[in-house]
Amino acid sequence: MTGMTLDATARRGHALRAAVEQDLLTPDNPVIGLLDVTAIHETAAALRTAFATPGVTVTHTFAVKAAALVPVLRLLAGLGLGAEVASPGELSLARAAGLPADRIVLDSPAKTVAELREALALGIAVNADNPGELRRLDALRAASPSTSSLGLRVNPQVGGGSIGAMSTATATSKFGVALRDDGAEEWIAAAYADRPWLDRLHTHTGSQGVPLDLMAAGVRAAYDLAERVNAAAGRRQITTLDIGGGLPVNFASDEVTPTFDDCARLLRARVPGLFDGRYTVVTEFGRSLLAKAGTVLARVEYAKTAGGRPIAITHAGAQLATRTVFAPDAWPLRVAALDATGRPKGGDPVVQDVAGPCCFAGDLVARARPLPLLAEGDLVALLDTGAYYFSTHFAYNSLPRPAIHGYAASPDGSVRFALVRAAQTVEELLAESGAEESEALMGLGRS
Ligand SMILES: Cc1ncc(COP(=O)(O)O)c(C=O)c1O
Repeated sequence: MTGMTLDATARRGHALRAAVEQDLLTPDNPVIGLLDVTAIHETAAALRTAFATPGVTVTHTFAVKAAALVPVLRLLAGLGLGAEVASPGELSLARAAGLPADRIVLDSPAKTVAELREALALGIAVNADNPGELRRLDALRAASPSTSSLGLRVNPQVGGGSIGAMSTATATSKFGVALRDDGAEEWIAAAYADRPWLDRLHTHTGSQGVPLDLMAAGVRAAYDLAERVNAAAGRRQITTLDIGGGLPVNFASDEVTPTFDDCARLLRARVPGLFDGRYTVVTEFGRSLLAKAGTVLARVEYAKTAGGRPIAITHAGAQLATRTVFAPDAWPLRVAALDATGRPKGGDPVVQDVAGPCCFAGDLVARARPLPLLAEGDLVALLDTGAYYFSTHFAYNSLPRPAIHGYAASPDGSVRFALVRAAQTVEELLAESGAEESEALMGLGRS
């Protein structure tokens, strides 16, 4: 805590207690998500400051997949950010948040003709993933003019990080045009030469588990390619370099590391031409903007033991911590043990499992974790869950998506909450489970 402001750790502590006091966690809502709005403001400001360069236009877009919540997109829009979208659903969220077309960029490896047509009609930027998509853009542009800025995504094939599923720049990654494959560079040169309207180049090579050096190498490869394309064109054909997102997050403590400053400093050293004013720079950070702002708060419904192992059965499991449950080594989370009032629980650490509510044995958010012994009625907090945990649902067991609340904590410890997303209702669960079609199969299959 410094002076009259609270740091993020103190703000979270107040919010956890206040969420209980203000009845956000109820018998009917045994798990909720919390978002520190002050942290989002601070992180967005840190991003803008880190990349700010006199004479350079930098457009920061937020990767909607990281937190597909309209109020979050609206808040970020007010802070000057745009949106990177990868589906018609994400595009509609960005538009519902009031984002103008010139601050939206559409990426995704499987865009349909209809999606592309809509993007071109709206004038939003599109990064084509592959030659087939570029041919579709040719046809759509020929049919009707568009103001969209259009580009190509390349995979610089600089290598993967420690999480295979998150590594987009491996030799055989499904994303973009594989730059080092035989004939790829020639094909790209011709693609730009044939299409004077192609004015951007995109790469997204960073991610959780990918060292910053490797991300910078990917950006460098894309920059060098843009320079060669422009030299061949004899003009500045590529005017925008979209460097993607992918700054990793520290899930081990409250320290923010690496920072946006670390990232921008490295890019300035490795790719100085990116910041000399000849290119507009676009970024697409997701996890690093939201992760540390989020916390999941859940009740311990029961405490038991099995084979000598204490197990806390909570309401936070695979339905929202999907990656952590299915790939625990890649996505470990800190779990805080709290008492029923939402305050840190005391007591000697006891090795225990923290389980979720789903009906499969692996539904654990922490295994053999030393924590004060959890008891029925206690609470657990899953930390750093602001990115991907509120948008990577798993519909197993028809568990509802939890309510998400934004919060602002004052130095006197008082906390104001605002509902970001209501908990999914039983009616909504029924609707997405075909309840309207309950008779649909009765007349089929009978001889
Ligand atoms: C094209 C693209 N841009 C941006 C992102 C956001 O990445 P991160 O959340 O790691 O910053 C992703 C994540 O999958 C992506 O695929």
